Amino acid sequence: MALTIGIPRETTPGEKRVATVPEVVEKLIKLGFAVAVERGAGEAANCADDAYRAAGAQVLPDAASLWAAADIVFKVRPPTLAEVALMKEGATLIGFIWPAQNPPLMQALAAKRATVLAMDCLPRQLSRAQKMDALTSMAGISGYRAVIEAAHAFGRFLAGQVTAAGKIPPAKVFVAGAGVAGLAAIGTAANLGAIVRANDTRSEVADQVKSLGGEFVKVDFDEEGAGAGGYAKEMSEGFKAAQRAMYAREVKEADIVITTALIPGKPAPRLITAEMVRSMRPGSVIVDMAAEQGGNCELTVPGEAVVRHGVTIIGYTDLPSRLARQSSTLYATNLLRLAEELCKTKDGQIVVNMEDDAIRGLTVIKNGEIPWPAPPPKLPAAAPKPSPAAAKPAAAAHGLSAPVSGKTLAVLFGLGAVLFWLVGAYAPASFLSHFTVFVLACFVGYMVIWNVTPALHTPLMSVTNAISSIIAIGALIQIAPPLEAAAERPSGWILGLAVLALFLTAINMFGGFAVTRRMLAMFRK
Ligand code: NAI
Repeated sequence: MALTIGIPRETTPGEKRVATVPEVVEKLIKLGFAVAVERGAGEAANCADDAYRAAGAQVLPDAASLWAAADIVFKVRPPTLAEVALMKEGATLIGFIWPAQNPPLMQALAAKRATVLAMDCLPRQLSRAQKMDALTSMAGISGYRAVIEAAHAFGRFLAGQVTAAGKIPPAKVFVAGAGVAGLAAIGTAANLGAIVRANDTRSEVADQVKSLGGEFVKVDFDEEGAGAGGYAKEMSEGFKAAQRAMYAREVKEADIVITTALIPGKPAPRLITAEMVRSMRPGSVIVDMAAEQGGNCELTVPGEAVVRHGVTIIGYTDLPSRLARQSSTLYATNLLRLAEELCKTKDGQIVVNMEDDAIRGLTVIKNGEIPWPAPPPKLPAAAPKPSPAAAKPAAAAHGLSAPVSGKTLAVLFGLGAVLFWLVGAYAPASFLSHFTVFVLACFVGYMVIWNVTPALHTPLMSVTNAISSIIAIGALIQIAPPLEAAAERPSGWILGLAVLALFLTAINMFGGFAVTRRMLAMFRK
């Protein structure tokens, strides 16, 4: 018998999201599941009961009948103890659980012999897990919404304009913390025309900030902020002091400050002091996205927008819910991808495979047992980044070239010139013309390829692949005898092979261009 996936109405006050949307219901049914939705579950996210019905779901009148019917429950927020009481014995629950913050809930679920997959426990560093990464989808939405909330509270345009009534300067936005949410905020603010500056303790994000149209502001203190799992670590007192000085300057200059800085398992770092707020121009806005974890700003009131020293400080903790339809759709897709992983046979049954690193990480309760926390997933060993100081001797030890001195370069050029003179003096004329083209091609190729950023190497490879195919065609034409020498034309089977070779090369060539086009499209806005 196919298992039934149940979608209850979220009971947390103000929560507008729903765990699945009608478009995804159809796909869950294709996986072999039956789907039941509580009446009005999607109302606040603009998903009507009729739309769920049309997609093939059954709409049940209340929470009690929904929880009683569901073998698998999809939820957004952690269930209340009252909801757990309604749950079927041995059922599966998938949603945000936050096990470290909710021990009584974990005990109640274990007592129900439930199997619980917590979306917040996904090992995000596994590339295979990214399609299920609901934390990332929600953080992206929060970053976008933070800018929209800031723009709403801010009394000016974000983009600069020259109008008949006068010149309007662009707004200055400073983003503290360039993780998923911070990067989304940077991209959104830059697209709206603001001047965006950003800081993060992890220096690796500097390029990402730049690629989204922002400017990375460094702290004048040499310390790397990347900790375990790609997340931030707590910084030293020296770093914090240098960072405070830099933030005091940036915040004073900014019209809008968006803070997203978090350190896993720790209260949010206090980055914006009351003094810094006082230094801002009246009418400025701070959006503190870390409000729920204690806030990055000293004056934040979680869940509220308050005005302090003329500055609006927004501490909303429900940013994804404020874009309910969008966040429900992305969340539903993350859950669908998980359902596909759990039900590879597409027969409406699930297998919680604890050998799979992603599923192992997600599973916080299995048939009433608590295997949480999961051991860190096995990742392919990444070479640690060498420090610039360590890089030089390492390069020398590996025989890699260090920057060449001017003297050596002059000697090399001299040797090259003598070599060319020898070739020119003794080689046959036909060789010389081919050799010149070859040398020029090497030079042009070097100049073109060496300046390409690593992110574009894959499209570059496919386009060189395509170009090499053109060269192959050229070579074939060169090899074929000229038309007037008809007697020397290749025999039938050689011609056949040549045609086949041409056909295969053409696939390579057009395929190469097609792949390059698709890849470059990903880099375009
Ligand atoms: P988060 O929400 O825990 O933290 C937000 C940002 O605040 C981070 O970028 C962090 O470095 C920064 N931060 C912490 N303390 C700070 C301080 N004192 N000053 C300035 N900035 C500070 O992190 P989020 O957004 O959930 O993910 C962070 C990173 O984790 C991602 O950017 C990515 O590198 C990594 N990640 C990797 C994934 C993968 O490998 N598939 C998936 C998701 C995240």
